[in-house]
Amino acid sequence: MKPRVLVTREVFDEVLECLARHFDVESNQDDVPLGAEELARRLADKDGAVITLSDRIDEALLARCPRLKAVCNIAVGYNNIDVAACRARGVMATNTPGVLDEATADFTWALILATARRLTEAEAWLRAGRWEGWKLKQFLGHDVHGATLGILGMGRIGQAVARRARGFDMTVLYHNRRRVDAAIEQSLNARYVSLDELLARADILTLNVPYTPETHHLIGAPQLRRMKPNAILINVARGGVVDDRALVEALKQGTIAAAGLDVYENEPKLLPEFLELKNVVLAPHIASSTESTRRRMAMMAAENLVAALTTGKPPNLITG
Ligand code: GLV
Repeated sequence: MKPRVLVTREVFDEVLECLARHFDVESNQDDVPLGAEELARRLADKDGAVITLSDRIDEALLARCPRLKAVCNIAVGYNNIDVAACRARGVMATNTPGVLDEATADFTWALILATARRLTEAEAWLRAGRWEGWKLKQFLGHDVHGATLGILGMGRIGQAVARRARGFDMTVLYHNRRRVDAAIEQSLNARYVSLDELLARADILTLNVPYTPETHHLIGAPQLRRMKPNAILINVARGGVVDDRALVEALKQGTIAAAGLDVYENEPKLLPEFLELKNVVLAPHIASSTESTRRRMAMMAAENLVAALTTGKPPNLITG
């Protein structure tokens, strides 16, 4: 009998075809998110699953799924998975590192430019039929070229963001848990500084850290107060890295100038105050969403599941 697997959300056809060569596949191609109860019910008789970041894999679920041997996330971030609980129960968990770095860095820049140049605000105004002609002071924005870019989190994605800053003639500062190699710093023309200095000096601060207990509310009211009043904050990392309520206040009070956000606390129910603010560009968690990148991510998760259940050695194990 083939192992039984669940695919928790809609995926591309080639992903299902790959899985069907090895497994009996149950898939949720209707794409309605499964709640915790439904997920546990559907996983109770499965050997493995391809999951997404809206599926929470925790001890309570694992306790109800005794056959489960592998959960393969279609995401590089894995804060939806209790890694310790998986380890304790011998469940392999995997993620999708590497394949989404460039697309995510591209989107970071989309947010930087749209936020600094007030693109979505101006477009909404134009679409509302309010444009009566050119004006000298219309939608005055912030220069990106020549500005100081602060990168918090200098992993693969942070480095891809830094590479793109060269064309904009920027000063690049970064902070990371560990300082990166001198050769990388040199090739990126990036200087390591303390978090305090990064906050104080960045004109544009981008967050590219994973979400862990250590990065929870890494940017809250005290950190926002340290930033410049003309600074722009970009979050493509995870909701929870920023204290959203503190950010709303900072944007209202002019503590910082603007923000470009792809992720939120409590997605998809972001704070309604964000919708009222003009100085924020809002995207629905799509930084990695290009056709080719999302196909590669989903296929990578499927390949991890095949390897996990056939050889016990998935290439992107996070529970090793
Ligand atoms: C997306 O948010 C990811 O972690 O891949």
